[in-house]
Amino acid sequence: VSSVAFSYNGRTVAARPGDTVASALYRSGVRIFSRSFKYHRPRGLLCAAGRCPNCLMNVDGVPNVRACTTPVRPGMKVRHQNAFPSPEFDLLAAAQSFGWLMPVGFYYKTFTRRFVWKLVRPVIRRVAGLGVVPPEPAAADPHAYEHVARHTDVAVVGAGPAGISAAIEAANAGANVTLIEEQSEVGGCLRIEKSGAERLAELRGQLAAAGKIDLLTATRCFGHYEGGLLGLLQGILQVQRLIHLRARRLVVATGSYEVPLVFENNDRPGVMLSSAVRRLLHLHGLDLGRSAIIVGEEPDVGTIGQELRAAGVAVAATVAPADVVTVVGGRGVRALRTRQGEIACDLVVVCGPQVPDAALIAQAGGKLEWDAARRMFVPTQLPPGVYAAGRVLGTQALDQIIAQGREAGRRAAAHEEAADVPPPNVPAPPDFLPRAEAGKAFVCLCEDVTVKDLRDAVTEGFDHIETLKRYTTVTMGPCQGKMCQLASIGICAALTGRTMGRTGTTTARPPTSPIPLGALAGARHRPVKRTPMHHRHEALGCVWTDLGEWKRPLYYSTAETRQACIEEEYRAVRERVGIIDVSTLGKLDVQGRDAPKLLDKTYTNRLSDLKVGRVRYGVMVDDEGIILDDGTVSRLSEDRYFITTTTGNIDFVQQWLQWWTIGTGWCAHVTPVTGGFAAVNVAGPKARALLTKLTNCDLDSKSFPYMACRHADVAGVPCFLMRIGFVGETGWEIHVRADDGAHLWDALLEAGREFDVRPFGVETQRLLRLEKKHVIVGVDTDATSNPIGADMAWVVKADKEDFIGKAALARAQAKPPREKLVGFIMEESALPEDGAAIAEDGRPVGRVTSARYSPVNGTAVGLGWVPAEMAAPGREIRVFVRGAFARAKILADPFYDPEGKKLRS
Ligand code: FES
Repeated sequence: VSSVAFSYNGRTVAARPGDTVASALYRSGVRIFSRSFKYHRPRGLLCAAGRCPNCLMNVDGVPNVRACTTPVRPGMKVRHQNAFPSPEFDLLAAAQSFGWLMPVGFYYKTFTRRFVWKLVRPVIRRVAGLGVVPPEPAAADPHAYEHVARHTDVAVVGAGPAGISAAIEAANAGANVTLIEEQSEVGGCLRIEKSGAERLAELRGQLAAAGKIDLLTATRCFGHYEGGLLGLLQGILQVQRLIHLRARRLVVATGSYEVPLVFENNDRPGVMLSSAVRRLLHLHGLDLGRSAIIVGEEPDVGTIGQELRAAGVAVAATVAPADVVTVVGGRGVRALRTRQGEIACDLVVVCGPQVPDAALIAQAGGKLEWDAARRMFVPTQLPPGVYAAGRVLGTQALDQIIAQGREAGRRAAAHEEAADVPPPNVPAPPDFLPRAEAGKAFVCLCEDVTVKDLRDAVTEGFDHIETLKRYTTVTMGPCQGKMCQLASIGICAALTGRTMGRTGTTTARPPTSPIPLGALAGARHRPVKRTPMHHRHEALGCVWTDLGEWKRPLYYSTAETRQACIEEEYRAVRERVGIIDVSTLGKLDVQGRDAPKLLDKTYTNRLSDLKVGRVRYGVMVDDEGIILDDGTVSRLSEDRYFITTTTGNIDFVQQWLQWWTIGTGWCAHVTPVTGGFAAVNVAGPKARALLTKLTNCDLDSKSFPYMACRHADVAGVPCFLMRIGFVGETGWEIHVRADDGAHLWDALLEAGREFDVRPFGVETQRLLRLEKKHVIVGVDTDATSNPIGADMAWVVKADKEDFIGKAALARAQAKPPREKLVGFIMEESALPEDGAAIAEDGRPVGRVTSARYSPVNGTAVGLGWVPAEMAAPGREIRVFVRGAFARAKILADPFYDPEGKKLRS
C-alpha cells in the first residue's frame, strides 16, 4: 500500500511505510544508484546499511546523502549525482576508456608543472568526485541543526541483542543508562535474521520494563573523545542534533558488518552483500531477482540460500570465492563466470567476511589483533571504563552474545574491570588476493582503487599500510575504510609476505562516518556575558559584536554609515576625548611572597624589578616560544600584582599561572577577578581635563607619568587608575567595582559633555591601535608566531635567569626568522581586506593581518607577515586588493605619533 510519494530526477516515486529512499527506488525499477568516483562505472545497492559509497544522492539539495538509510518523507526531492545526464546513461563514463592513463598516483607524477595542473584541475574536478556543494547552502539546506550536551552513567552503543542486554542489566543495577542505536528501531541483527523475531520481542519487553534507560534511535555515535566524551548525531526528520554525551562508562555493542569479496567486476550493480539481501527482503519485501548465485562458504551460503528460496528467488548455484573468475554484464549482472564455466543469473549474493565494528574501541585506546581462525581483527585489550560485548568481540552464538551483554552491563554499572577478552588465534598466511585478475577487481569502491593499483604501489615502494593508504587513497573515501580496510590489509600482507598482524591497521580517528558540516557548526546554547554597562551601550544605539562569550559595542550608530560612525568616534579620540568600555579584559589578582618569581617565570620580560605603582606590558609564550597572550602587569605592593589579559584568554592565563606554581612550593595565589570589576578607558587630548573634574588625584605627567598606576576616587567611587595608551593618546584605564561601572560611565559622559566626549567601540579601537602598530594577539599573531618574528624582540629579556620559552627564543634570536610582522602604508587608494595576500612577482609570499583606512595618513595602513628578506623599512610590496595588486611600502615606525609624545604628555 503506497502512502507517500517523492520525486527522483523529476519523476514521482511511490513509497510504502518504512521505506528508505533506496528501497522505494529499487521497487520502482532503479538499479543503478550512482556512478563511481574515477571511472564512472555504474554502481548499485551493495550493503544497504549506510556503509558503502554506492547509494550517495542529493536529497533536498543536500549532497552525499545515503539513500539506503534515509527514510522517505513525502515531497522530498531526490537527485542523482556525479553522472551526466543520468546514472543509467552517463557520458562521463568515457573515463573508463582512459583508465590506463590514470594509474595509481598519476596526478602526483603527471601534473607537476603548475600551468599543467591549472589546466587540468577543472576537468578533473568536473569528472571525478561526489556531490556538489550547493552554491547557497543556507538557502538550500532544509535541515535545522542544533547542539545538545548530556551526561550519563553508562552509555551503550548499539541496540542489538548484546547492547539491549547490557542496557537492561546496567539499568537494573541502578545506573542511568543511555542506549544509542543508529537504525530507527532496536534489534540489530535480530531484525533481519531468520528466527530473530521471537528473541527480539522478548528483549523488547525487558527493555520496556527496565527503568532509567534513555533510548536514542536514529542516532550515530561517530567518535570517542578525551574524558569519555561521545559525539552523537541524531537525525529526526529535518532536525540534525549533535549530542555531546559525557559518559562515565561505555559499553561498545556495535556488532559487526559484512564486507565485499575481491574479484573481477565485483562492483557491478546486482552484486550484493548477503546482509543487504536480508535487509531488503525482510525489512522492505523487495523482489531482488529471478535467479541468484551465492558466493561464499558454508554455513553462510546455506542459510542465505534458504532465505532466498523462501522469498521466491531461485538459487542457480553456490560458488566458492576461489572459483570466481568474473561477473558478466555491464549495467547489471547477466552471469557469473567461474573456473567451471559461465552460469546465468541476475543477482550475485556475496557472503563476505565479518568485520567487528570496533572503531570506538580503537579510538578509546583499545588494541585490536588479527585472529586467524576467525579471520578478523578482534579487540584484545579494552581501555579502562570501556566494555564490549557481542559480535564486536567476534562472538557469534546468540546466547553467548546476550550473556556477554549482561556481563558488560553489570560490570559497567558496578564500575568493575571489563571481563578478559580471549587471546587471538595464531596468525596464518593471508589469502585475500583474487585468483583471477585480468580486469578490474575493486578493493575500494569509494576511490576506485583496484588490486592492480595496490600491486603497483607496493612495487613502487609504498608497502607500509599507512603509506599505501596515502598513495593509493584506499580507505580514504566516504566509507572511511569500512568496506575496504580488511581487504587492503590482506592484499598488502599477501604482496609483502608479511602476516596480517605485522601489516596492522591504520590509525582510527573520529568521525567514524561522515558528519554534515552544518551539524558541527550548528547552533549551540552558549552563555552570554554582558558588562555592567551593557544597557548603557544599548541605550546609546550601539552595534554589537561577539568577542568570545562577551558582547561588546562594535561602534555606536550615530551617523548614516558605519564608516561615518567610526570616523566620528576616531576624531573624538584623536582631537578631544573618547571613552570605551574595557570591562571584558581578563583580570587577575596575583598575591604572595613568590608572586614576583612566578611572573618572572611566566612572562618573557622581568617583572620582579617593577616598582610599586608602575605598569609594564608583558607577553607570555609557551615552551616553543609561541605567543600565548599579552597584557599589562601593575605592581600594587611588594607581593601583589594586578594583571590584565586579552578578552578571550582569561581562563587560560589563570590556569597557565596556576600550572607553573604546581610543585614549586611557592607562595603565589592567583585569583580571577574579571567579573568583579568594570573598566573604562578614557583617552584623548582632553582626557586629563575631563578626569580632573571627577577626581582629586594629581594627573599631571610628573606625578602620574605614563605607565604608572594609582588608587584614587573618581566620581566619588574608589577606583584603580593605570596610565597606559593602547590607542596612542594620553589616557587612563580605570578599574572600578562592577556595581559602580554604570555610575562611572554616566559620570564620565556627563563631565565630558563640555569636551564633546564620545563613547567609542571595538572597531574604532582597532583602527586607533593599528595606527600605533600595536599588535593584537590572535589577530596579528597565530599559533606559529613568536615575539622575535612579531617585531617584539624588546619584550624578551634574554639575560633573565629562566622563563618559559627562554631556550626556544634564544634559538629564534640566533637564527633569523623566516617571516616578520611589518607595518605597511598603501601608496595607492586601495583598502586591503584582513587576510589579503602580499605578493612578489605575482606569487603570494605573505598575508595581511589587519588593515584599515587611516584618516591621519589619508590612506590605508596595515600589519602583515612577509618573508624576512622583504621586511626592510622602505621596501615596496604588493598587496592583493579586489582582484589586483596595489603598491604599499613597509614602515618601521608607528603610523601615528611615532615618538610617543602624545602618550606621555
Ligand atoms: S548501499 Fe547505501 S551505503 Fe551501501
